[in-house]
Amino acid sequence: MIKLGIDVGSRNSKIVLYDTAKGKLIYSAFVGTEVSPKQSVKMLKETALQSLEIDDSNITTFGVTGYGRKLFPEANSILSEITCHAAGCLHFFPTVRTIIDIGGQDAKIISIDTHGKVADFVMNDKCAAGTGRFLEMTALRLGCEIGELSLLATKSTKDYKLTSTCAVFAESEIIGMMASAVLASDIARSVHRSVAKRIVSQMAGLAWEPPVIFTGGVALNKDLGFCLGKELGTTMIIPLDPEITGALGAAILSSIPKQI
Ligand SMILES: Nc1ncnc2c1ncn2[C@@H]1O[C@H](COP(=O)(O)OP(=O)(O)OP(=O)(O)O)[C@@H](O)[C@H]1O
Ligand SMILES: [Mg+2]
Repeated sequence: MIKLGIDVGSRNSKIVLYDTAKGKLIYSAFVGTEVSPKQSVKMLKETALQSLEIDDSNITTFGVTGYGRKLFPEANSILSEITCHAAGCLHFFPTVRTIIDIGGQDAKIISIDTHGKVADFVMNDKCAAGTGRFLEMTALRLGCEIGELSLLATKSTKDYKLTSTCAVFAESEIIGMMASAVLASDIARSVHRSVAKRIVSQMAGLAWEPPVIFTGGVALNKDLGFCLGKELGTTMIIPLDPEITGALGAAILSSIPKQI
């Protein structure tokens, strides 16, 4: 009894296999979505089946979510990202009340009621500021890898304020800071603080409560988690694999036929 969950994100495609008898995630992986999401998912699935030494007959249901979900009409369930992130996070942390998911292209904040149901959500999918794309641009400008930004920012000794709320203007501001010999560590920290502030301003219209989980690929950036916690006045809970909570939710909910 194995359920398959796929999250076809704008940047990465994620796969999860969930054993219903054990109530446990038994496999997870991700690859870049690239130009052909169908091809990326096919590869992910083949590798997963091989590694677990099972075949299609072992999969009971298949749920799909994410930006590219409509490319998979053969799925038993095509689910919204909000529903899936909520189900995935609730599996790991049943008492969670707020989820902050920051991916490559958008940022979603979901509030959960005391019964574990989605109460409300807000989403920014209009502007790159406050998403992974903005961090990718920052890393490129600073000449480091995306995974190095967090450690770099922890070495910051001086506070600088990034004032632009638009990613394009913020990039010009970063170039200006570099030209004024501002240290890369201080720039990285100022970017994290600006992303955190942007997320918090997005949350203004949401009746949110702690505990707060931070998920999505961007949650791998610990310094950003620290800045978010400071802005919100609460510590962020970050799952071990923050990228795969949406795919986990898709697997868990895959037996509920739903087309979105
Ligand atoms: N170590 C890291 N530190 C910070 N950010 C990272 C790290 N690794 C990946 N990322 C960021 O995570 C993003 C991808 O996350 P994720 O897989 O959750 O996005 P997605 O689901 O494809 O996007 P979306 O939900 O917006 O469609 C990339 O934009 C990348 O910038
Ligand atoms: Mg996503």
